Amino acid sequence: MPRWRSKNFPLLCYFVRFLLQVSASILPRTASFMTKTIGILTSGGDSPGMNPAIRAVARTAAQHDCRVMGISNGYDGIFDGLTEELGTQSLASIIDRGGTILQSSRCKRMYTPEGVDHARRRLQELGIHGLVVIGGDGSLTGARELSKRGMPVVGIPASIDNDLAGTDMAIGVDTATNTIMQQVDRIRDTARSHRRCFLIEVMGRNSGYLALTTAISGGASVAVIPEFRYNMDRIVSLLHKRYQEARGNSIVVLAEGVCGAETFMARMTEAVPGGEFEQEIRITVLGHVQRGGIPTHFDRMLGARFGELAVTGLLASETGCMTALAKGRATLIDLNMVIGKKKHPAPELIRLARNLKVEFGDPVEL
Ligand code: F6P
Repeated sequence: MPRWRSKNFPLLCYFVRFLLQVSASILPRTASFMTKTIGILTSGGDSPGMNPAIRAVARTAAQHDCRVMGISNGYDGIFDGLTEELGTQSLASIIDRGGTILQSSRCKRMYTPEGVDHARRRLQELGIHGLVVIGGDGSLTGARELSKRGMPVVGIPASIDNDLAGTDMAIGVDTATNTIMQQVDRIRDTARSHRRCFLIEVMGRNSGYLALTTAISGGASVAVIPEFRYNMDRIVSLLHKRYQEARGNSIVVLAEGVCGAETFMARMTEAVPGGEFEQEIRITVLGHVQRGGIPTHFDRMLGARFGELAVTGLLASETGCMTALAKGRATLIDLNMVIGKKKHPAPELIRLARNLKVEFGDPVEL
């Protein structure tokens, strides 16, 4: 190194450091949310893909110099102060895990205006400047109430039911439908072997989406969904006709929103002339197996897209909105367009089912 450089080098370093310190104190920070804290919680029924969404929120926030506080146990965690900083390191291996690492609850304390006021105050005390709520209808109702009280909130739809208006898909739906379809495939093996009929009850709360789509993809003969009135005589005569045919097996997919499988079975039996089926019928209630499992590629991508968009939305001062998938694009929509709105089955799905000879009973929409 030339002599003049070695002599002046410490002075140069000192000068550069001085410049950096001055610029850090006087230059505006790159993002208005810098050093701010984003809270995140999962609420209501868990769904596969929540963890990839949590990961995307934490990573995106870190990219923008925000802290992320994980709130455990849904909204209950706000009241109980169950918060822990989520570093991106600690989230390294959650992308392939079903459920939610933050745990979830259905929080009764959020059902009253006083409860929401209290939650709003608690969020302030916890030093949370923006909130991401991942969940279904009830959870996003809470999110809207908090945003009305001045809390910046972005919701992410996550529920296997796919009953939220405004978005084509919610996180977890794809994994759940794949799980159901695989169970239907297995059941058909034994149905074929014994020439039996199987009545399979699936979840969905008041929505028939899971039943309708898995009846199509699982090759069922009948889908009974709450959005349509059913005519039991038509269902019974179809099952009878199929039993007379060479293969003789049938699958009926029943949405839980219609009634429980035992009740439906009793109604079917009543409708049979003579009060007894000639064919053996077995009932399978799939239950919570539908909510678990490794999130599919689709649900991981949806979680990633929604998580990233929720944070960039908050950074752009968006609030009182929900991430949504519309015509293949991730977008933000006002929660007022979602809460309390009924999501009807897409007409093309109904047409598809009809053209593939999936029987609904009477095709009259309620
Ligand atoms: O909303 C998701 C869901 O799995 C519904 O399909 C079902 O009716 C309900 O949650 C079951 O809730 P829980 O796990 O509280 O029994």
